[in-house]
Amino acid sequence: MDKLIINRTLPIDGEVSISGAKNAVLPMICASVMVSKNSVNIRNVPHLHDVTTTLRLLTQMGVTTTMDEQMSISLDASTINNSFAPYDLVKTMRASILVLGPLLAKYGEAKVSLPGGCAIGTRPVSLHIEALKKMGAVIEIENGYISAKCNKLQGTCIEFPKTTVTGTENILMASTLARGKTLIKNAAMEPEVIDLANFLIKMGAKISGHGTSTIEIDGVENLEGVSYSALPDRIETGTFLVAAAITGGRIIVKHAISSHLEAVLKKLQQSGAEIHFTESEIHLDMKGKRPKAIDIDTGPYPQFPTDMQAQLTALNAIADGTSIIRENIFENRFMHVQEMTRMGADIKLDQNRAIVVGKEELVGAQVMATDLRASASLILAGLVAKGKTEIERIYHIDRGYDCIEEKLQQLGADILRVPM
Ligand code: UD1
Repeated sequence: MDKLIINRTLPIDGEVSISGAKNAVLPMICASVMVSKNSVNIRNVPHLHDVTTTLRLLTQMGVTTTMDEQMSISLDASTINNSFAPYDLVKTMRASILVLGPLLAKYGEAKVSLPGGCAIGTRPVSLHIEALKKMGAVIEIENGYISAKCNKLQGTCIEFPKTTVTGTENILMASTLARGKTLIKNAAMEPEVIDLANFLIKMGAKISGHGTSTIEIDGVENLEGVSYSALPDRIETGTFLVAAAITGGRIIVKHAISSHLEAVLKKLQQSGAEIHFTESEIHLDMKGKRPKAIDIDTGPYPQFPTDMQAQLTALNAIADGTSIIRENIFENRFMHVQEMTRMGADIKLDQNRAIVVGKEELVGAQVMATDLRASASLILAGLVAKGKTEIERIYHIDRGYDCIEEKLQQLGADILRVPM
């Protein structure tokens, strides 16, 4: 197992190129099992453990998967021979639940392990299951597995009582091959949901309303393999912008879509950053200033993303002033706070709120990554902390950030990965 060693780097200065979005690519890989003709080719795929895990999951179902040096993957579902997603793969990545809808829609059966616990909260999948039942699937939970069967899924109206990203994606994929019309109400509006819908449309699906809270799908008989380039990762983009902001630095983020990050850019501007953007770049300049404290309230898109909460907590930890961060999506997503406190941060937790009193300085310490975005926030804190920060359990970061230390090194950061 490796660890990261970071020495204070002030300021970050340079250019970085953003990789494809993990949360767009994972459902696309899963959707490829529904194709009857030709292979699926996905481009702009990030080099991440979660991608490898999803490919392993499909490979053990018999799908032929290949990847080239440009990180373009090819998936041929004509060789599929089972619809089983075992616990040892699903437990490492909750997004594996995204195979459930496509397998059921195409093959009429699926056996997928229940994802189980997760550091950031309970994260059930009952909304996915209830929606598929409403579409006619017979679903039983036995020995930790979801066993689902159907003749052909039937289009219907699914109104989610709570907005769910992967829940929307599972039903969106399943309904492309269902009989008749499906309406998804209170659908997630995340850019990754829109990208998935555009990918499915290119494969022959009939979808409208994606990007709004009501998606309408008219089932078709078959989907065909296509070539598609995934959108850039908005959370990776946001994380690098915070790296510049927290260190008083400046950055040009390339291959980024600013409109996907409006809530984050607004907060960074409030903290004192000068930001402007072109069609595919975001430029941020903090001009050597200490950030001002900013309050954060997380919520479903287009509100402030929970996946950027930990990074903004790090920014507030060294900001001028006191801030309140409200986490409204996951009940236990403050695992980074305890570690930041070990670095000298003044943060108090009160139910779903973190009250952060900005300190002029943090101090390097040995800390532990607890989940994907928490790991990123500890790296950001390490960039400004006096002395040396060592981050253990960094396998979390490799699940979701493509070559993070190489990219930070290009920006001047003193960061090294070393074996433990
Ligand atoms: C997705 C993202 C994740 C992001 C999250 C919220 C992927 C692969 N992951 O996760 O990075 O942090 O959206 O933006 O895209 N819920 C239920 N019952 C369910 C399903 C969800 O109660 O059946 C609750 C969850 O506990 C949570 C809320 O709904 O409180 C939103 O979760 P959801 O949008 O489903 O998150 P994921 O899709 O798992």
